[in-house]
Amino acid sequence: MQYRELGRTGFKVSAVSFGAWAIGGTWGAVDDAESLAALHRAVDRGVNFFDTADVYGDGRSERLLGRLRRERREAIYVATKAGRRLNPHVAAGYDRANLTRFAERSLVNLGVEAIDLLQLHCPPTDVYYRPEVFGALDDLVSEGKVRHYGVSVERVEEALKAIEYPGVKSVQIVFNVFRQRPAELLFPEAQRRRVGILARLPLSSGLLAGKMTRASVFAPDDHRSSNRRGEWFDRGETFSGVDFELGLRAVEEIRSLVPAGTTMAQLALRWILMHDAVTCAIPGAKRPAQVDENTAAAELSPIEPRTMEAIREIYNREIRPQVHDRW
Ligand SMILES: NC(=O)c1ccc[n+]([C@@H]2O[C@H](COP(=O)([O-])OP(=O)(O)OC[C@H]3O[C@@H](n4cnc5c(N)ncnc54)[C@H](OP(=O)(O)O)[C@@H]3O)[C@@H](O)[C@H]2O)c1
Repeated sequence: MQYRELGRTGFKVSAVSFGAWAIGGTWGAVDDAESLAALHRAVDRGVNFFDTADVYGDGRSERLLGRLRRERREAIYVATKAGRRLNPHVAAGYDRANLTRFAERSLVNLGVEAIDLLQLHCPPTDVYYRPEVFGALDDLVSEGKVRHYGVSVERVEEALKAIEYPGVKSVQIVFNVFRQRPAELLFPEAQRRRVGILARLPLSSGLLAGKMTRASVFAPDDHRSSNRRGEWFDRGETFSGVDFELGLRAVEEIRSLVPAGTTMAQLALRWILMHDAVTCAIPGAKRPAQVDENTAAAELSPIEPRTMEAIREIYNREIRPQVHDRW
């Protein structure tokens, strides 16, 4: 495993970390014993950073991480998120009382005295224009309930606004072979300010693992069948907002670039790590075998320049027209 500095937090985190959305069971059935086995395997492989949220399985994902922490002696950092318990999910709900209430619930679920990293959970854009929200987060840090805070965003512009607040130490954003725009303006600016970048959807919801076909069927409660047009939440969170069939065609082109002895998922993860501004990728694994495959990507040699260029060309030709100017 390789480790990278998470902005100004002082945390050194695994370059391939773990996204714990799927194991919350919000999309598709999951088995806690298998999820825990995947989490333990991640720690065995050197993963020390886990991303979750209070709403993943309504606390189930956080509680699994609390259990992992109790069962392991290794130092483990857990990043959680707050805001999506609001109903309606509006900017005005991001006030001191609600943020405190959400953070206190996460403390209980995680079984800790302080949250390592608390992220605003893709709030409405207006939240970034309310300094009082960031003041409330500063107070949670002063009270010792939160060690550091950051944001999870939908759009590059939201990230650029968020990192103007000096307390924001990390940005989580969709970044993968099918979503390349964050590397243009955001990454240099985040590096300049020493803000960490958590690359989410690194496998574009599994599409970039190269195992899906036109015949793939997803459970009705899996967002990969029910959110393709943004019916539940932002469309960009499902296959990065790329039309499924177009994505499959691009995946077939990328398949021919996968080096011998490497899997397609590993190429997708290694591609992310080629960007120095990225602190870590947080692939959402559900099974120990997926963890093995994903974590091994951190040990691969750098991708050849000509392969990087070929990936860029496929992106520009096929994917860019659909996503580049939307997020
Ligand atoms: N708004 C937000 O803040 C937000 C939104 C989305 C995600 N996130 C975070 O980002 C993390 C990652 O995003 P994600 O889970 O949506 O997308 P992802 O990591 O791109 O894809 C995850 C899915 O890919 C499949 N997979 C994982 N490893 C694999 C492998 N080696 N080979 C084949 N398939 C593999 C698994 O599904 P199957 O096995 O079922 O195919 C898994 O559920 C989440 O867990 C969460 O922590 C945050």
